Amino acid sequence: MSEYESLVETRKEELVTKKELEVVGKPVPRIDAIDKVTGTARYGADYYFPNMAYGKVLRTQYPHAKILKIDTSKAEQYPGVLAVLTAKDVPGSNRFGVVFKDERILAEDKVRYMGDAIAIVAAVDEKTAEEALKLIKVEYEPLPVVTDPLEAMKEDAPKIHEHGNVFVRHKIRKGDVEKGFKEADVIIEREYKTQFIDHGYLEPDAVVAVPSGDKITVYGSFQHPHNARRIVALALGKPMSKVRIVQANLGGAFGGKDDTTNVLGARAAILAVKLGMPVKMVYSREEVMIERYKRHPYIMRYKVGATKEGKLTAMEIFYVANGGAYASTTPLVMFRSTVQCTGPYDVPNVKMDGYGVYTNTPFTGAMRGFGAPQINFAVESLMDELAEKLGIDPLELRLINAYTQGSTTPTGQVLDGHVVSIRQVLKKAAEISDWVKKREEYNKQSGDIRRGIGLACSFRGVSLGAEGPDFAGAIVTVMEDGSIAVASGIAENGQGARTVLSQVAAEVFGVPIEYVIFADNDTVITPDSGPTVASRGTIMGGGAVKIAAEKVKRRMQEFAAKMWDIPTDQVVFSKGKVFDANDPKNSIDFRELANLCYRNKVSLSDSGWFVAPEIHWDPETGEGNPYFSYTYNADVAEVEVNIKTGAVKVLHVYAVHDCGRVVNPNTAKGQVYGGVAMGMGYALTEEYLVDENGYPITTNLDKYRLIRANEMPEVTVEFVENPDPNGPFGAKSLGEPATEVVAPAVINAIAHAAKIRVRDLPAKREKILALLKKKEE
Ligand code: MOS
Repeated sequence: MSEYESLVETRKEELVTKKELEVVGKPVPRIDAIDKVTGTARYGADYYFPNMAYGKVLRTQYPHAKILKIDTSKAEQYPGVLAVLTAKDVPGSNRFGVVFKDERILAEDKVRYMGDAIAIVAAVDEKTAEEALKLIKVEYEPLPVVTDPLEAMKEDAPKIHEHGNVFVRHKIRKGDVEKGFKEADVIIEREYKTQFIDHGYLEPDAVVAVPSGDKITVYGSFQHPHNARRIVALALGKPMSKVRIVQANLGGAFGGKDDTTNVLGARAAILAVKLGMPVKMVYSREEVMIERYKRHPYIMRYKVGATKEGKLTAMEIFYVANGGAYASTTPLVMFRSTVQCTGPYDVPNVKMDGYGVYTNTPFTGAMRGFGAPQINFAVESLMDELAEKLGIDPLELRLINAYTQGSTTPTGQVLDGHVVSIRQVLKKAAEISDWVKKREEYNKQSGDIRRGIGLACSFRGVSLGAEGPDFAGAIVTVMEDGSIAVASGIAENGQGARTVLSQVAAEVFGVPIEYVIFADNDTVITPDSGPTVASRGTIMGGGAVKIAAEKVKRRMQEFAAKMWDIPTDQVVFSKGKVFDANDPKNSIDFRELANLCYRNKVSLSDSGWFVAPEIHWDPETGEGNPYFSYTYNADVAEVEVNIKTGAVKVLHVYAVHDCGRVVNPNTAKGQVYGGVAMGMGYALTEEYLVDENGYPITTNLDKYRLIRANEMPEVTVEFVENPDPNGPFGAKSLGEPATEVVAPAVINAIAHAAKIRVRDLPAKREKILALLKKKEE
């Protein structure tokens, strides 16, 4: 047994509990499936209240302009209009922002992109509110527009905010790149670009704000209700005790229903407080496309050196993230790109400079992958281009350089404390896809339809990392009949959090999942668990649920031990029963024990608080241990390219992920299927376009091409389960890993099939055709 394998084995022993797992690891059906398929689940737009008004938003006509005057008088007089409000009517703070306070609830003296809101109207119905918008007169002084981030970086570029257009600078210095390039036999330099991506969630944002005395409740499609509470309270100038957020069911979020959805909640709340009546605001698809933040377009320049044997000697990286009009989470998105900038490879000498830049385009923020999809596309394309140059198989080149246990990352972190499984994952992906044989076979093809097979892999920091604070709370209550309530601030965003966190609680108590009810996210009841982002729901939320459940279980155990006069640890919970491990006569149904505890005044409710291990990162030096653990991921894509038309068909994606222990194989596979669809869209069809004057082109889903069901390939999913010592029952992360290496695998497969290299996403048919034509000439 190799040192590596024995490490895997020891960790496994550490993590396997005394009894076999009964609920965790089982494909239990989603606990909200029935609600959703029968239509009883309520989404944001499904909330109705008596005497409810409807709100609408007036947006700017120019992407960059001074606002000289706003005249709302005509709109106010329009029959059926109840209120017309602008920035001056915001009772609390009009300014907010995740990192920089550069966003506004409503525009003040300036607009910076076409999504900026100038006024909000409430009326007796939606149509009246829409008509009233047309009666608001705004005088602008248009300002010069900059949409290209490289242009925006120049000294004389139009200034979008007073503090200048470059608002994030990251760097990494490891070793000596000059020396590293001298040691190289081969050096290549490439530039890669990615596009704006819309989240493409099916449900447009919807909120209803309901005032009651000096308090207000906002129902809506919030990805993170506790963030929404912060923004609504701030905008109203009220303490959090006056604001309650109730999360509706979400029709998708993917990172997209934070920030701007919270602003929508704040706007509805401002109108509702003003009127003393409920106000509903539901976005149209066009509003979603124009206003909502997108995934950052990146420009990435890589220079890489390697010996002729394929050992990487140096990497020099320059990248620019287009932040659009506001900072939002850009510094945090870039943090992940920076940490993961070399991919999962041991590179002795690294120099990286990254910049986040304002432009007059939609602002960019969290979108599934959070800075990884861009960087992975560049690094994984680069590795294939280098492999070709060296005449080494792409899998081989990756295996030569992939991290091993104890490798040091560019930030100086020694990878330990979890199983560094990138090689394991790569080998598994190669094995299930029959990589070696197909790679060989597809090299000798003629005819118009050519097949190709491509590979990409990644390492990904788990949870927020040094972006922190990284914590989660939970409350677990056992009821008098043995039912169990779980409350967690981790929100159900469609990913299956309700089910997975309920499984964790059921596992602790050794009962079927049917005993558990998951409390819907309500900020008065559910503890703050940090945002439901960064693929942290299971590891962080599950960690907190496990702690809370174990506290309650301990008291039930003590009660039973006393009853039977045996040591506490001898009391076992399994399969709905509680019994004495040494004497089968001492046995009681879990529900009966719960009832006995209840009648004997044993506290059956407790909270759990899970805090991520201590980590740190210094943005000045680029050094530190930015994440406490990492996941390892590899995708192989098989494609067919028609070299006459440029059409690409993805035939098969083989996805392999080490996400630690899989809590629910069904929801986990669901994450991967969805991730593949999104990654394919990123690779081939999706592109949010803004013209050079700052006006959006792709204003609806007819122009923004999501992957269709009939375009989905065969997807084979394999999990490499190295339980993580930090996670509940060894669980780590999966939501974002599932999508972040799909695009480079597809692009590398296209390169293999058609011998052309797409360096800017998406690889639309026309682009491929143009490259094929160029190759022929
Ligand atoms: Mo996310 S993109 O971390 O919601």
